[in-house]
Amino acid sequence: MKQEKIVLTGDRPTGKLHIGHYVGSLRRRVELQNSGQFDKIFIFEADAQALTDNIDNPEKVRQNVIEVALDYLACGIDPAKSTIFIQSQIPELCELSFYFMDLVSVSRLQRNPTVKTEIQMRNFEASIPVGFFTYPISQAADITAFKATTVPVGEDQEPMLEQAREIVRRFNYIYGDTLVEPNILLPENAACLRLPGTDGKAKMSKSLGNCIYLSDSADEVEKKIRTMYTDPNHLKVSDPGQVEGNTVFTYLDAFSRPEHFGRYLPDYADLEELKAHYRRGGLGDVKVKKFLAAVMQEELEPIRQRRKEFEQDIPAVYEMLKKGCEAARAVAADTLSEVRKAMKINYFDDEALIAEQAARFSGK
Ligand code: TRP
Repeated sequence: MKQEKIVLTGDRPTGKLHIGHYVGSLRRRVELQNSGQFDKIFIFEADAQALTDNIDNPEKVRQNVIEVALDYLACGIDPAKSTIFIQSQIPELCELSFYFMDLVSVSRLQRNPTVKTEIQMRNFEASIPVGFFTYPISQAADITAFKATTVPVGEDQEPMLEQAREIVRRFNYIYGDTLVEPNILLPENAACLRLPGTDGKAKMSKSLGNCIYLSDSADEVEKKIRTMYTDPNHLKVSDPGQVEGNTVFTYLDAFSRPEHFGRYLPDYADLEELKAHYRRGGLGDVKVKKFLAAVMQEELEPIRQRRKEFEQDIPAVYEMLKKGCEAARAVAADTLSEVRKAMKINYFDDEALIAEQAARFSGK
């Protein structure tokens, strides 16, 4: 049988999605969805994973499940083309994780760089919950239960994908070819890989208050761009400026396209020309920020509008999620039957087994 091409990716529903998620992954998902090059697309909310470090705050996860679903729909993820589902509603994922736990050692998990930094960030150290510690295993189950071939995520997820690939190899080696090794698909350029916050800090994060959300109003976006971090040494317009580490230019790397110049800044042919002028001196921050605002509003306005429309019928969004969960569950259940068969724990659908045992005990 020809290998199907299957995309799968997910997000922890711990907050509304911001433009870092958008340029890092959401925009690409919509392109993949509409490319016609994939047989199936699965996009899911990793609520059970979100609970691994929010166990005392289930309300936060519950509230954000609908926010993230709205963000997905607003960006153009289309339930007619992609299956959108919620991790906790697929019990097969727990079952698969449980079997995978026998294939991974404690020391292998301890070496996972993402888990290492997250443990430090959360001051978990020795009190780390087992569920949090083992989430790379559960993530491998998320991916392999759907036989995903292509997983579009940020580079921080690379160790998770490596872990999943190892588990697949080990499983297939022991139990025979059953699961599919997934490939990571990273964002196209450095700016998209890790979009900094509006304050220039390395990461956009809710706790730092440096995010631009997909659900922000046009005014909020305008204001956030106006106060955005640039080059602190670029004091007068005539001063030469630095483009590297200048958030406004990083955002332009992520958002601007050549055609934007014709529309909003016809004095420059492209971003390289604009950067060259800024470096030379004589180009003010205000002008560059105005251009960035125009470019970003053009991309964000349709998303905002679509989000508002979906907000008008929340029960329909839950219904869409429910249908997605049912469809996803059927796929995961198929994989789990294959897994149980490979692991020889399919006692009741194997007539040969029963006959063989009967023969053994009757002494024939
Ligand atoms: N760990 C991912 C994140 O924090 C979310 C996630 C869970 C995921 N399971 C996944 C992503 C499977 C891709 C594939 O963003």
